[in-house]
Amino acid sequence: MESTLEAPALTESQQIIDLEKQYVLQNYGRYPLVLDRGKGCYLYDLDGKKYLDLISGIGVNALGHAHPRIMKVIKEQSAKLIHTSNLYFHRYQGLLAKKLCETSGLDRVFFCNSGTEAVEGAIKMCKSHGHKISPDKYEFIALDDSFHGRTVGALSLTGQPKYRKDFEPLMPGVKFVPRRDDAALEAAFSERTCGIFIEGIQGEGGINPICTRFFQKARELADRYDALLVCDEIQSGVGRPGVHYSYHLHQPVIMPDIMVAAKPVACGLPLGFVVANERAAAAIAPGMHGTTFGGGALACRVALEFYEMLDELLPQMNRVGEYFRQELRGLQSKFSFIKEVRGAGLMIGVELDRPGKQMVTDGMAHGLLFNCTHDTVLRFLPPYILTEKEVDLAMRGLKKVFQQAKRTKL
Ligand SMILES: Cc1ncc(COP(=O)(O)O)c(C=O)c1O
Repeated sequence: MESTLEAPALTESQQIIDLEKQYVLQNYGRYPLVLDRGKGCYLYDLDGKKYLDLISGIGVNALGHAHPRIMKVIKEQSAKLIHTSNLYFHRYQGLLAKKLCETSGLDRVFFCNSGTEAVEGAIKMCKSHGHKISPDKYEFIALDDSFHGRTVGALSLTGQPKYRKDFEPLMPGVKFVPRRDDAALEAAFSERTCGIFIEGIQGEGGINPICTRFFQKARELADRYDALLVCDEIQSGVGRPGVHYSYHLHQPVIMPDIMVAAKPVACGLPLGFVVANERAAAAIAPGMHGTTFGGGALACRVALEFYEMLDELLPQMNRVGEYFRQELRGLQSKFSFIKEVRGAGLMIGVELDRPGKQMVTDGMAHGLLFNCTHDTVLRFLPPYILTEKEVDLAMRGLKKVFQQAKRTKL
C-alpha cells in the first residue's frame, strides 16, 4: 500500500517567500508578511488580514493606499505620457520645480529617482563648488548617527559604522561630529571644507531632532569657510514634520544652501530632488550631472497633485501627530521601559531601554505595522491622512504589545 503521508501543500504566501529566497539577492531581513492590497491607512495580506499602516513603506505612501486623486492622475497620465528622458521637455517638471522652489525658499531643482541619488547630486554640487575655489577644498562634515543612503558617496557621509564597515575605504575627507557638540563642529571646519550634511531630524539614527543652536552654528561656519550647508529632508521633509521641510521648524528659519528630498514626494512612485540656491546651483554647468529616469512626466504630475493637497493636510497632521505623542506618553507612564517619546508632526520615535525588534513582530500579530530603528527606537511614519480614530486603534494594539513585553523577562 502507498504511503498517504504527503507533505502539506505550501500556502501561496510561503511560495512567494520561497521564490524570493531562491532568486532575489538576500540583502534584506524581511518580515514573513506578503501584502496584497491597501486602502487608506490600511493594508491587507494575502489571507485578507487587515493591518494599520504606521510606517507607510518607510515614509513613502504619504496619502496612504489607493487614494482616489492619485489613482485618477496615474490613470490619466499613464495613458498620455509616462517618460520622456531629459532630452526633451514635458509639461510637469517646470511646474513642480516652481512649487518646490516656492515651498523651500531655494532657487533651482534637479530631479532624480531616490534619496541616495539626491544626496549624490548634492555631493557633486559641493565638490564642484569647492573645486572652483581650490583643489584642496573637497572635505565634508557629517554627523554621528546620520543616514544619507547606500551609494558610495552617500554611505561615506553616513555616520554609522555598521553600514560602512564592509565597504571601506570610502570617499576620503569626511569628518563626523556629534549632533550637539558645537565645539567639535567648529574644530572640524577648515578652508578645505566644501560641504556639511545635516538631517533636520535624524530618521534611521533614532528620530533625533537637530537643535536650533547647532543648526545655526553650522550655518555660520559654512558661511565663514565658504562651504555649502546641505539639509537632508529625505525622511524628515515634504510635510512629514508638520511643516513643508524640517528646517522651517527653527525660528527664525535657518536656510540651507541645498535641500534634498525623496520618499513621499510622488506618493509611492520613485522621485527625488535636489533644490539649491543660486550660489550652489552655479557649481553645475550643462553636462556635469544627469539621469535618464529622473523627473518623468508621470512622477512629476503625481507629485504636483500631492503638493496641491499638502497645505490642507498640514493642520490635521500636526493635530493628529500631537495626539499620537500625547497618547504614547500616556503609555510611557504605565510602561517603565519607555524612556522617551519624541518627534514632530507625523515623524515619531519611542525610545526604549531594550531592543524593539520583538515588539515590531508582536505589533504585526495585533494588526499594526511599524518598525524599529537604531535597535531601541520604535519608529512611526504613518500616512499623512491618519486620523485620531486610527491613533486610538494603534494605542489599543500597542498597549497589548507593551503588556507582552512587560511580561517577557529580558
Ligand atoms: C535621511 C535619509 N537620507 C537618505 C536616504 C536614502 O534614501 P533612499 O533609500 O531613497 O535611497 C534615507 C532613506 O531612508 C534617509 O532616511
